[in-house]
Amino acid sequence: MNDWKMPSVGIESMDDEHEKCEEALDALICKPSVATLTHCMSILVEHFQHEESLMKTSDFGRPNEGEFSPFANHVKDHERILDIGFKELGKLSQQGSNEQAFLSATCSDVTDQGACATGQA
Ligand SMILES: [Fe+2]
Repeated sequence: MNDWKMPSVGIESMDDEHEKCEEALDALICKPSVATLTHCMSILVEHFQHEESLMKTSDFGRPNEGEFSPFANHVKDHERILDIGFKELGKLSQQGSNEQAFLSATCSDVTDQGACATGQA
């Protein structure tokens, strides 16, 4: 279990979704598999869509100011994260039985797998 927690953004629906993202990422890092990666991507896609929609309707991040607005940069961050995840899923579809080793190697770039295995993370 990783000890990460996003601070509240002051909107209950976003805080709830951030908690689901944290849980999905935690499950992926501690038990990497096609199932946990697929679930994580599903949660992230749904959350990013909600968040971008809410940012637009509330004019957060100055979405009307074009491609260099904070909103546009945040959308680019979302796209970059989703691109990483979907590329990994694509590689897994070609790797077959090496799934566990591949995902463990990928996740070790993000966190300490040994700590996950011993429950110290
Ligand atoms: Fe978010």
